[in-house]
Formats: sequence, structure tokens, C-alpha cells
Amino acid sequence: MTITFIGHGYVGIVTACVFADLGNIVYVIGRTPEKIARLKNGDPIIFEPGLGELLKKNLEAKRIIFTLDYQEAIPASEIVFLAVGTPPKANGEANLSSVLATAETVAKNLGAHYTVVSCKSTVPVGTNTKIKEIIEKHKPTAATFDVASCPEFLREGTGINDTFFPDRIIIGSASEAATQLLLKLHEPLPGERVLVGLESAEVIKYASNSILSVKISFANLVAFLCEKTGANVEEVLDGVGLDKRIGRDFLSPGIGYGGSCFPKDVLALTKTGESLKVDMSLLIAVDQINQQARDNFTDKIIAHTPSKKIAIWGLAFKPNTDDIRFAPSLYIIKKLLDQGFTITAFDPEAMTNTKKELSDKIAYADSALEAVKGADALVIFTEWNEFKQIDLEAVKRLMKSPVIIDGRNLYPPKAMQKMGIKYYSVGR
Ligand code: UGA
Repeated sequence: MTITFIGHGYVGIVTACVFADLGNIVYVIGRTPEKIARLKNGDPIIFEPGLGELLKKNLEAKRIIFTLDYQEAIPASEIVFLAVGTPPKANGEANLSSVLATAETVAKNLGAHYTVVSCKSTVPVGTNTKIKEIIEKHKPTAATFDVASCPEFLREGTGINDTFFPDRIIIGSASEAATQLLLKLHEPLPGERVLVGLESAEVIKYASNSILSVKISFANLVAFLCEKTGANVEEVLDGVGLDKRIGRDFLSPGIGYGGSCFPKDVLALTKTGESLKVDMSLLIAVDQINQQARDNFTDKIIAHTPSKKIAIWGLAFKPNTDDIRFAPSLYIIKKLLDQGFTITAFDPEAMTNTKKELSDKIAYADSALEAVKGADALVIFTEWNEFKQIDLEAVKRLMKSPVIIDGRNLYPPKAMQKMGIKYYSVGR
């Protein structure tokens, strides 16, 4: 099939590469000439494990084509995916201006044949109906189309694997023709097919991200309790999570969820509910606990580092990504800078993006060990693999005083005690 993705962010580029790899011809439309030039040269722009190789392979096979030109891509395509951003507005609602403007441009460029316009962007319930109205208004008379909602569940850092091996594929549409075309495109992929109405598909996406956020905030709440009782949150959540009805996934406490999805989607669903006069106090509490997790950890750092000279490991909002959008690290670093802290940080992939945000307000090290030289405490924000079995004796030797404040519970507290390291983690 020939398909188009509009947008080459973490969702657009990963999904486009996967469908190209399955043998489809995939156009990717962007709006920044410099970025499209880089993509054409095989530079994926973002860091996502395995993406560079997949992109190069499919560029060489001429199955993935980057363009700024809607006329080159849209009339040639059977399915057009909208994968542009829906960032939060100041009041928490999703900003739909890109999605709606893109829908209008797609409409004006539709060919004189049947096209499915499918939204992959996370959009509040009712948006796809608006997209349908916009396309109806702006399309050439001869063009026929249907809209569909095909929400995306890939995670940054494991995006390619998640796309090749989805748990489920949600197709929301009122049209049998659109549903069949999307089923055909997804045919090679495993996973349950869930065929639903547009509105259900839209709500499934927000409900999925929100329940995962509920689990994380619940784990953080249990961690707050454990810290006051002498219980160990990891033991508690192992005990809880082994119940198959609950599951252990997404029950890791720490410094709260970040990234471009959970924080914004919890707020956006809250706003949608409130606009419909639904009591959204559960999600309001989820957001508050998330905030509390960051603030409690900030207080812990301040309490245990009177000299205010620290090293930081990990800046990305999670491992295996260079993404720092809504990263808890940035929030906490800004608070610490306000308190007069001196910070040297290391992250395997996210330092370039952090420099754009914080410039030289903090120092950057070339390695984890270099970062800790002369530090009075080491603070861990992201659970990169390379920190898990690092030589902690060497870390201890390099530091001025052996204090580790760990937001991701990477090490066993007893082992740390044995090594003579003052170790503060979360909920233990
Ligand atoms: C999330 C969802 O997991 C994807 O299914 C969804 O497609 C995506 O949002 C999206 O809407 O685009 P992502 O934000 O990439 O994916 O990353 P997650 O692995 O879900 O982690 C999100 C945040 O939660 C991170 O800050 C992570 O550290 C935190 N987290 C996760 C915890 O604090 N504890 C956990 O147990 C799990």
C-alpha cells in the first residue's frame, strides 16, 4: 500500500519506518526544510534505539520518502495518518491547532479517489468528528474519504518493538471501507484487533494513559506510606503486583511520571470530564501525587546535601530516549538552582536537549564517573542500564563524600550500607 504520515516526531517516524519495513511505500510530510533534509540523509533527528538502522534500510530500498510537499504524497496515498503534536495549553486542555490545520491542508490536497484519513495524534473525544467536518468543507468535489481513529501505544525507548509487536490494534471508524483498509495495512502485525466507534477509540487512548498514570501515582502513594512505617515499597509492590489482576508493571515509584504523554493526557482527560460535568477528582489526585513525588524527592536532596554540590545521573524522562519534555529532572534541577546548588550532570543521550533548555546553568560531564568527581552527593533521576552495575567502589572513591540519593531505587539498600555509602532511595 502507499500511505502518508504527517509529522515525524517519536510516533510518526517510528510508525512510518515500521510500515515501510513491512513493504509499504510511506511518505512522511514535515514542515521544516532543515529537518526533512536530515531525514532524507538517514538522520532520524531523535534518539530511539534501532531507528537509525531501520530508517537507512528503508531509505535505501526507496520505501520511505520525506517531503515538504502535500501534493507529492497525499494524492498517491490510500491512507493518510495525522501524527502531529497535541501539546497542552496553559489550562491543561489539548492544543488542537496543528491537528485541525493539518486536516484542512490534507483536505485541499486529496486526490480524486477514496482516502482514509486516520488520526494517530492523541486527541480529545469529538475531535475526529471535527476533522471530518473540516475535510468535508475543504476537499475537492471529486475526492471521497472517511475518517478513522487509530491511536498509538508505543513507548519512547522501545518504540520499534512496541510497533512490531502491539498488544492490540484499535481501529475506530463508522465506515466499513475505512476499517477494512486499516485492517489490511495492519495485517502482518500481531495483536488483538479492536474495532470500535470513533469516540470509543479516542477515549481508549486517554483512558489507557490515565490508568497507567493511576498505577504510578498509586505506587508513589504507597512509597510515601512506606517511608513513614519502615516497610519497603519494592517488597510491598512485589507482594501486591504478583496478583495477576493487578500486575507489577507500571508500579515503580520514584520521582513521578514525565514525558510528553502522561502529564498532558491526565490533564486533558480531566478537562474533558470537567467540561462534561463529570467529577474528575481521581485524576486530579493522580496529578497531585505526581507533583508530590517530585517535591518529596527535591526535599530529600536538599536535606541530605547541605554543601549543595551534587552530581546528577540521568536527565531524560526515562531511559533509552533523549527526550526531556516534562522530565521530572528538569523540574527538580530548576528548584535546586533556585536554592543555590552547583550541579554536574551526565546523561548518555539527553545532554544536547538539556543544554538547549538549561544552557550553562549546570555543568555537563562526558561520563558517569567524571560527573561524580568531587561531588558531595550523587542524585539519580533516570534508570539507564549503564548505572545499574557501575563500579560503585570507584564512584565512592571519586566523590568527596559517599552519599547517593536515588530516585529510581537502583541499588539494594543493605549492599550500600555495607559499602559505607549513605543511601537514600524512595519508599525504602
Ligand atoms: C506512554 C505510554 O506508555 C505509551 O503506551 C503511549 O503510547 C505513550 O505514552 C504516548 O501516549 O505516546 P512514554 O511516555 O513513552 O509512553 O513512556 P512510559 O514508559 O509510559 O513512561 C512514562 C513516564 O512514567 C516516565 O517518566 C517513567 O519514568 C514513568 N514511570 C513509568 C514511572 O515512574 N513508574 C513506572 O512504573 C512506569
